[in-house]
Amino acid sequence: MMESSNRLIKDGIPEVLPVIPTMDIVVFPHMLVPLLVLDERIINGINKALEDTKTVLLLAAKTPENNQAIGTKDLYMVGTVATIMRMIKIPEGGIKILIQGLSKAHATELIASEDGLTAKIEPIIEDAASNKTAITAQINSIKELAEEVSRSSQTFSPDFHLILSKMSDPNKIVDFILSHLTLTVEQAQALLEKNNVLELLENIYVYLAKEMEVAELQENIRCRARESMNKAQKEFYLREQIRAIKSELGEDDAEEIDTMFTKLADLKVPDEVKEEIQRQINRLEKTASDSMEAAVLRNYLDCVFALPWNLETTDNLDINHAKEILDEDHYGLKDVKERILDFISIRNLKQDGHSPILCFAGPPGTGKTSLGQSIARSLGRTYARISLGGVKDEAEIRGHRRTYVGAMPGRFIQAIRKAGSSNPLIIIDELDKIGADFRGDPSAAMLEVLDPQQNKSFYDNYLGLPFDLSKAMFIATANTLDTISAPLLDRMEVIELSGYTTIEKLNIAKRHLIPKTIMESGLQDQTFEIRDEVINNIISNYTREAGVRQLERLLHKLCSKMARSLVEEHKLIAFTPENIEQYLGPRKFLDDQIDHLHQVGISNGLAWTMYGGEIIKIEAVLMPGTGKLILTGQLGDVMKESAQAAMSYARAHADEFNIDSSIFKNNDLHIHVPAGAIPKDGPSAGITMLTAILSSLTQRPINGDYAMTGELNLRGEIMPIGGVKEKILAAKRNKVEHVILPLKNKHDLIGLEDIAQDIDLIWVNHANEVLEQVLLQAKKATTRRRHG
Ligand SMILES: Nc1ncnc2c1ncn2[C@@H]1O[C@H](COP(=O)(O)OP(=O)(O)O)[C@@H](O)[C@H]1O
Ligand SMILES: [Mg+2]
Repeated sequence: MMESSNRLIKDGIPEVLPVIPTMDIVVFPHMLVPLLVLDERIINGINKALEDTKTVLLLAAKTPENNQAIGTKDLYMVGTVATIMRMIKIPEGGIKILIQGLSKAHATELIASEDGLTAKIEPIIEDAASNKTAITAQINSIKELAEEVSRSSQTFSPDFHLILSKMSDPNKIVDFILSHLTLTVEQAQALLEKNNVLELLENIYVYLAKEMEVAELQENIRCRARESMNKAQKEFYLREQIRAIKSELGEDDAEEIDTMFTKLADLKVPDEVKEEIQRQINRLEKTASDSMEAAVLRNYLDCVFALPWNLETTDNLDINHAKEILDEDHYGLKDVKERILDFISIRNLKQDGHSPILCFAGPPGTGKTSLGQSIARSLGRTYARISLGGVKDEAEIRGHRRTYVGAMPGRFIQAIRKAGSSNPLIIIDELDKIGADFRGDPSAAMLEVLDPQQNKSFYDNYLGLPFDLSKAMFIATANTLDTISAPLLDRMEVIELSGYTTIEKLNIAKRHLIPKTIMESGLQDQTFEIRDEVINNIISNYTREAGVRQLERLLHKLCSKMARSLVEEHKLIAFTPENIEQYLGPRKFLDDQIDHLHQVGISNGLAWTMYGGEIIKIEAVLMPGTGKLILTGQLGDVMKESAQAAMSYARAHADEFNIDSSIFKNNDLHIHVPAGAIPKDGPSAGITMLTAILSSLTQRPINGDYAMTGELNLRGEIMPIGGVKEKILAAKRNKVEHVILPLKNKHDLIGLEDIAQDIDLIWVNHANEVLEQVLLQAKKATTRRRHG
């Protein structure tokens, strides 16, 4: 119950009021704040007030030290009288009230009782505006500042400034701004206790200025982020300025453009080509000189002007001269050289006719690429080489469109540019290694390049102009013809090169490789000799190749050792077969590929790959089983079939070899061809497999001094095979004494009598002839015979 003695002071506010202590907040007059009250006694006081004048006194509590409970002594004695606007009971206990500050009051006495906390108050009379001009001036500057603050700060809404601009009462302005500032309780309380408006306004100005500073700082950070994004643009403007300065100084791009126009005028090209180039120069002129686009255009124009549009060399048509050059550059290769000379003669006769494209096919290091170079030299043409190994992308041949970053012309245009004439000899190296994938089929593009009907105006995507390739001469090289597409192969005249014999290799080394390496190593002024026995030693102990590539590399190594010794120790080295290991490392092929052992189930075959001839061993082993034929070692389909045919032949003729037919039912036969990583195919191992199968069925050893090759049909006939020369060379390299070959291949050796020397060639027609010679009697067991 409110006491009747509770007299009203100013504006109908009672002298004694319930107190609501506030934490963390100082409520100013005019401020509208929701408060949560949990304390029972305070709620009692509020309830009493609600029954009466609905006014309470809000007193802020000092920030407690160490979280101690707050007592009456912790309350500030200056507070704000406020009206309770609304009250909501919270189901969990406690109430929520919405209050609005009315005026400042000073608590003269605090009374704590069961009914809550009450205070006796004295109103604080806000002092009349003493210095009106000063106040107005201060208000104006506050309003100005407020406008800036609300524009740049995110804590003040734009409304803040709008509302403020309409206010004129200094006290209201003060209270309004105070309710928006982020102040500590202490700071706010200090302001609340100030009663001088001018002083308050000054204080508020300072706080607003602080807010402004914070806002500016934030804005700065934002700006900096924005600035870095605009850096590219800034650079662009700076560059533009540099350009302007440059042109003021007369260092203009105009000169570059002028040179281009002069070059264009001199260019003897069809009109439409000229027009296109002109268009591109015009574009360059309009483009900012240091932009990406200008760089692309400049590269393009460089390329266009570097092309030998109308530069042509005159062919040397003297066949004798050609013959001299070919002989000078290459040892042997009699047939190949003859065919090249025929080819050149025909070309000479029908100058504008379209002769086929030469294609040299053969194992690596047999001189294919270097023959191409020789032909260019003998004709007096410039020369460029295109390697197609691993090319899968059609754009490599037709060029990339210029819109593509890092675009380049295709290989052919690049070759023409490098060769420096429009009728060079272009060697298309490794034509068989060309691939195809999702980026298109390069061999289709190749067809177009090589087709005399189409290559007259070959269109390269990068160039964007037709270029006449028909004056160029193309020579292709390949290790194998198997992977070259049939239409491409159709266009070509194939000249096959085979491996070299040891004697040929020795001669090539002496006449060509060594003099060349000596020059390259700077040893031409020295007098020394690499003896034949040293070269032969290298050939047989360090290399096992059809060509001379590895041999050339090793001779190079010897010469560099010589050069080193000359520089370091001022002396020459005398190489001998004995000291060679010191310089080339341990011998690679101490033992021959075949071991000359007479073993059961192991026969020596001869294979022909793109790297030349090779010895392959075929192993057959019999084991308990159910009559299966097991084939391993990455065999191709044709090879598998020929294994089956050999097996069938063995079964059909079991009687002749005293084989009990039950052996086929109770055993599996496993045929394995080692060096499994290399895929093997072809029918030429038929007789070799039959030998291995029969050996394992009869347990008769196979004579290890023999190697054989031949396709086998079901009647036991030995059919002809390919690569006779390569296979004989491989047998010689591996020191095989006797080689069994199909009689039907005998004519392959006509004119190659050299090769037939120093080896026993046995020509056969039927499997029986082979088995008679090769299958030893079981009792002879395994004996080892070495051959020197
Ligand atoms: N008959 C030969 N006479 C002289 N040098 C040869 C002969 N055959 C090959 N060479 C040389 O052997 C090296 C390899 O020949 P290269 O043309 O690259 O072989 P390919 O292109 O057939 O793989 C080259 O230095 C080449 O001059
Ligand atoms: Mg080559």
